Amino acid sequence: MGNIILTGDRPTGKLHLGHYIGSLKNRVRMQNEGNYDEMYVMIADAQALTDNFDNPKKIQDNLHEVILDYLSVGLDPNKVTFFIQSEVDELTTLTYYYMNLVTVSRLQRNPTIKTEIVQRGFEKSVPVGFLNYPVSQAADITAFKANLIPVGNDQLPLLEQTNEVVRSFNRIYGDTLVECEAILSEKEIEQRLPGLDGSAKMSKSLGNCIYLSDTSEEVHKKVMSMYTDPDHINIEDKGKIEGNMVFTYLDAFSNDEQISKYSEFSSLDEMKNKYKSGGLGDVKIKKVLYEVLEELLTPIREKRKYYEEHMNEVNTILKEGTIKAKSRANKTLKEVKKAIGIDYFE
Ligand code: TRP
Repeated sequence: MGNIILTGDRPTGKLHLGHYIGSLKNRVRMQNEGNYDEMYVMIADAQALTDNFDNPKKIQDNLHEVILDYLSVGLDPNKVTFFIQSEVDELTTLTYYYMNLVTVSRLQRNPTIKTEIVQRGFEKSVPVGFLNYPVSQAADITAFKANLIPVGNDQLPLLEQTNEVVRSFNRIYGDTLVECEAILSEKEIEQRLPGLDGSAKMSKSLGNCIYLSDTSEEVHKKVMSMYTDPDHINIEDKGKIEGNMVFTYLDAFSNDEQISKYSEFSSLDEMKNKYKSGGLGDVKIKKVLYEVLEELLTPIREKRKYYEEHMNEVNTILKEGTIKAKSRANKTLKEVKKAIGIDYFE
């Protein structure tokens, strides 16, 4: 059997460089390598509602941002089926049957859920829908018999839980569902890009992001205000590389060819050595990073502009993808009902 790739994001905000390097880049690479039979990318609006049920407008607005982000990084509607989670009712039905296979305490022990419960202030009282979203994620994945899931590493506990559902289901009702595996970015720095301010993670709620849709001016301003080495006051001072976000981002996003194009150094190591021994100013290193990021973001902005001017095309992509996804999920739902023995009228 061939590979089936599936992934998705909750539309709770615009996607940023952390998403790009942590997962989007991998998705584009996999799309272009072509080692798969089908590739699906889902906008997880129903999952996003589990902790934003009182603010559906936010989800609607960001649904459009996220599909534009996907298309602008180069995910290709001729290769990828894009769809909207809430339009595929089969996923909800599958969730209902899978809920029988998962205990409340197992959900409460899921490390991702545990962290998110604290972040959202749900400790005293957690909505059932939110606690249950790992089960719904198992439905998203198994409905398509997806085996390869390109995601950020925060999703690992969710995929583990999916595989537990798969094993329980197959054991109790017979071999029906397929286990999956996460596809992560290679380097540690790619898996968790810190924020511009040096905090552990680039995240919308911390306000330390560069968005894929930021203008050149916004990127310039953000790079110029990045956290470097607070003790590096004069150009002549010796500077620190560790914890210096400009170098951290150069590690993540640049290659030596770019370093020699945008600076007097022939490699990033050479540039770091100069910074460490003194005589290299922050403005200079920030300019290099700005150029490197612009090289990445300029084509992304251009594609985005095209699609923003062709929103009808975007809507068609989503609509046709959703129809296709629904029909695929329906096939699995039939198999699931048959396996359980509740396919009475078939
Ligand atoms: N949990 C993912 C996120 O937080 C979104 C998601 C929902 C997903 N269903 C999925 C990711 C299935 C991969 C596979 O963004």
